[in-house]
Amino acid sequence: MMEQTEEIRGEKSETRDWEVVSREDRRTVGIPFVDNPRMTCRNIDVYYGDEQAIQDVSVDIGNNEVLSMIGPSGCGKSTFLRCLNRMNDTIDICRITGEICLDGMDIYGGEIDVVPLRAQIGMVFQKPNPFPKSIYDNVAYGPKIHGLAANKTDLDEIVETSLKKAGLWKEIKDRMDQPGTGLSGGQQQRLCIARAIAVSPEVILMDEPCSALDPIATAHVEDLISELRKQYSIVIVTHSMQQAARVSQRTAYFHLGDLIEVGETERVFTNPRHQLTEDYITGRFG
Ligand SMILES: Nc1ncnc2c1ncn2[C@@H]1O[C@H](COP(=O)(O)OP(=O)(O)OP(=O)(O)O)[C@@H](O)[C@H]1O
Ligand SMILES: [Mg+2]
Repeated sequence: MMEQTEEIRGEKSETRDWEVVSREDRRTVGIPFVDNPRMTCRNIDVYYGDEQAIQDVSVDIGNNEVLSMIGPSGCGKSTFLRCLNRMNDTIDICRITGEICLDGMDIYGGEIDVVPLRAQIGMVFQKPNPFPKSIYDNVAYGPKIHGLAANKTDLDEIVETSLKKAGLWKEIKDRMDQPGTGLSGGQQQRLCIARAIAVSPEVILMDEPCSALDPIATAHVEDLISELRKQYSIVIVTHSMQQAARVSQRTAYFHLGDLIEVGETERVFTNPRHQLTEDYITGRFG
């Protein structure tokens, strides 16, 4: 930890070309921590049975920022993302140690109810997964079960606002009674984003949200992410370095369960300090 702090000070106080850190060194380089974080993750280890999937990861998620997580397949991006809203609880053999806080509150604390937690920290998956319900009910379901609407007018308002924020309203406002599963893939993904927004989250987690979408639908979702950042913190896992560069302010590079490097997106892509990051972004690995 001491060394990490030294490096952080160094990176903040001056700009110079760093000596690239060797492949063997697995300590995180860059700036893992931010002022006024929304979420803090400290010394996170994750195991599936006896296999360790994440090793001693510490990183913050800032307010109104998009943090992208990149790295080769199997390096632990989805595993780490799922720690952030306790989605790994649903996997029997998965065990997590360390501390993750949302606004200073330990989300693994004994008193935490995971149902409202997963509304506060919403998730959008790789494959759009609307409920087998109408477009309206897809968005209204969460606010209903969380008691966020006092009456039908309130609920209508939440549904409309969420669909507008998700950039879907104009396209579907005249067919709210039709099934959500009847929309195009890109529309379904925006519907799922509207569903996440409807319960007033603070953080939205996205695991490769565009990997099943065509370039136009992808552009829609990317624009949306940039818009949503004004209100939420977003963590996005992506295999597209172009996407990470377009939408995120900070980038975290994972390799075999280690958080190798994290910092400002532009800096990470133009001036990587770890040999493994450089190998990955120049296409020599993964
Ligand atoms: N449910 C599970 N049970 C057992 N092992 C798992 C499970 N999920 C993931 N793992 C293991 O944990 C490691 C990290 O997997 P993870 O899915 O987090 O990687 P990833 O970076 O998201 O990969 P990809 O880019 O392919 O989605 C892998 O070795 C994987 O086999
Ligand atoms: Mg994954």
